[in-house]
Amino acid sequence: MTSETVGETTGETIAVAADHAGFELKNQLKDRLLGAGHAVLDLGTHGPESVDYPDYGSAMAEALGAGRASRGVLVCGTGIGISIAANRHSGVRAAVCHDVTTAKLARQHNDANVLALGARVIGPETALQCLDVFLATPFDSGERHSRRIAKLG
Ligand code: RB5
Repeated sequence: MTSETVGETTGETIAVAADHAGFELKNQLKDRLLGAGHAVLDLGTHGPESVDYPDYGSAMAEALGAGRASRGVLVCGTGIGISIAANRHSGVRAAVCHDVTTAKLARQHNDANVLALGARVIGPETALQCLDVFLATPFDSGERHSRRIAKLG
């Protein structure tokens, strides 16, 4: 599995990872991130050949745990399998989002640090909207949300 960081290195580094079902959308999301001035750590996959989504969810968790990126974006066919894989690792809060409402609430209530998207479920325009909202929305760090996040471990 190869990875590389491209783009600005002065701002936030966002990691991206996908399986074969998500790699085309992952590339579109990567372009959006670079266009917005972020550095991007691309964990693959880099082509349409069939791969196993748990490998990429775990790669994301390892990259975040190692401090190679501050947040991440995962893509598979549904967003489900790859987010389950990532969420098995402590400190990862990956949220499958289908629209701007779920992307916004994943940040406000759940302090999600990984956006998971389903390339076979939503179109690229919706995915890009989810990305923009996810990155722009702060956590509502009120007492009740912080208490619940702490219980997630
Ligand atoms: C791959 O065919 C598909 O199962 C995968 O991308 C994902 O949707 C699994 O959750």
